[in-house]
Amino acid sequence: MNLQNKTAIITGAGKGIGKAAAIALAKEAVHLGLIARSGGDLEALQSGLTAAHGVKVYTATADVGSKEEADRAVSLLGEQLGAIDILLNNAGTAQFGTLVDMDPAQWERIIQTNLMGTYYITRAALPTMLKQDAGSIINIASTAGERGFATGSAYCASKFAVMGLTEALMQEVRKSNIRVTALTPSTVNTELAVNTGLPIGDEDRMMQPEDVAELILATLKLPLRVFVKTAGIWTTNPQ
Ligand SMILES: NC(=O)c1ccc[n+]([C@@H]2O[C@H](COP(=O)([O-])OP(=O)(O)OC[C@H]3O[C@@H](n4cnc5c(N)ncnc54)[C@H](OP(=O)(O)O)[C@@H]3O)[C@@H](O)[C@H]2O)c1
Repeated sequence: MNLQNKTAIITGAGKGIGKAAAIALAKEAVHLGLIARSGGDLEALQSGLTAAHGVKVYTATADVGSKEEADRAVSLLGEQLGAIDILLNNAGTAQFGTLVDMDPAQWERIIQTNLMGTYYITRAALPTMLKQDAGSIINIASTAGERGFATGSAYCASKFAVMGLTEALMQEVRKSNIRVTALTPSTVNTELAVNTGLPIGDEDRMMQPEDVAELILATLKLPLRVFVKTAGIWTTNPQ
């Protein structure tokens, strides 16, 4: 599918995978609506992308884990863009600790951002896609959404839930020509990985956010008759 002049909303677009996806889509002449909590990150990206690629870039600061903020951001960006062809649910957070040691507030924040944020943003964007009778939704899950590991109860629970949401929604909207896909990267070299102490190792062998952006592009470019339910992507760096 040719992406030129399509429109995309990306959550968590200020850094890491979301930022790399914004750059990759702008190079394909996709107009963008970018969401994160830090306006400064989004504004820097906005001016750079507009100057380099001539695409329209709009921004909205919002915590995706707040229904009101998610609704407001999607409504504003949807109006500015005039359509929502692509939704990338990427905003996410991680923290690891044993189930007993982890503060319940931290546990809840992970579920609120990773699961409820994906739900709120999708719920806000989906009516536009249903009206268009077309669209692509990509949810950034994780290998942590496919297998559990010690200290990952909150993160794994949130990402397993995103996998379930993705599959159920895929079945719900596929007849409306809306594709819903979950991507499940292993460790990617971003602030999230560094801040949570994930093994980064040799940078040359470590998966970079730009690599995940390539898979996002490849998924979006498939002919509309093709649905990718889940696509895994692994670093060569042994973990
Ligand atoms: N890095 C990895 O190893 C890895 C592996 C598999 C899956 N993932 C998933 O990939 C996605 C992106 O992660 P990343 O590694 O690129 O992280 P990152 O570098 O920390 O970037 C996260 C982005 O999300 C935004 N964000 C975080 N919480 C938010 C909230 N409540 N509302 C709105 N925006 C929020 C952040 O901006 P603000 O703080 O300004 O809001 C930032 O722009 C996440 O879903 C993560 O779980 C990451």
